[in-house]
Amino acid sequence: MTKPKVIVTRKWPDAVEASLKELYDVRLNVTDSPMSADELKAALQSADALLTTVTDPISAEILSVPGKRCKIIGNFGVGYNNIDIEAAKREGIVVTNTPHVLTDCTADIAMLLLLMSARRASEGDRLVRNNHWTGWGPTHMLGQKVTGKTLGLIGFGRIAQAMARKAHFGFGMKIICYAPRATLPEILCEFDATYYTTVDEVLTQADFISLHCPGGAATKHLINEERLKLMKPTAHLINTARGDVVDSKALIEALKVNRIAGAGLDVFEGEPAIDPGFRELDNVALLPHLGSATMETRVAMGNRVMTNIAAFFAGQEPGDRVV
Ligand code: DGY
Repeated sequence: MTKPKVIVTRKWPDAVEASLKELYDVRLNVTDSPMSADELKAALQSADALLTTVTDPISAEILSVPGKRCKIIGNFGVGYNNIDIEAAKREGIVVTNTPHVLTDCTADIAMLLLLMSARRASEGDRLVRNNHWTGWGPTHMLGQKVTGKTLGLIGFGRIAQAMARKAHFGFGMKIICYAPRATLPEILCEFDATYYTTVDEVLTQADFISLHCPGGAATKHLINEERLKLMKPTAHLINTARGDVVDSKALIEALKVNRIAGAGLDVFEGEPAIDPGFRELDNVALLPHLGSATMETRVAMGNRVMTNIAAFFAGQEPGDRVV
């Protein structure tokens, strides 16, 4: 029996690539350079499965290329706002994602950014690294205590709940949250969390706000100038969700004039070309989209894609089908 033809758009961990080679007629991307729109179209025409990731913009225009052979897009990532889902549906292409396996690592990065922002870790690192540190002092580089403070979660899915667990049980934080749909009382109960029906209520009450909503049109600039003004002047904003959930210009201005105390960002509008205004600020911790970036998690994500496409090629429903 001929093996299904599979094209992978970026470099994947070696262990997963080895498994792909065994099972499929696979074309890997050894240079890891992102594929152009024309290359993605050609891939849809020549492969049975296209294995994309969150950096591949799979637009309606790309998906409507004539003469498609591709029947399934296995996205390496829990987020799939890089894919025009409505267009995929119209074109009869199945799309899957990789939930669950990156939950803890992404929540770890959110917690890391929260601590970095509260305790001015990036600023301190720069001070030492640039040889500007003149010594310990009773009032030197004072940050904010994290233990016992209020964490406000915007979105209360798997990653937010994992963060709530770490923050509540590890740092004694009080958890408050907003989600568009009411959260099950037993989940709230686990962290003694309070659910609010508006984003604004969470913004006004929390000492730390962490964003955990999906990207896309519905959440674009959810955190804008008006909402930033609702935050306490001592509060910090953490974003490990998607860059466009926050209006970058408004955030830069709020940080510049100390309208809020700090921010920790793992994702950016238009990344990797981030707004240069962020680089000039001391009160922001910046990471290059590292949420799921551990070897264990990236291997698990690859394996999750493999499980999804294996089910599809066996005529079964892929477990992580999103469309
Ligand atoms: C995702 O999976 O959506 C992350 O942004 C990358 O792991």
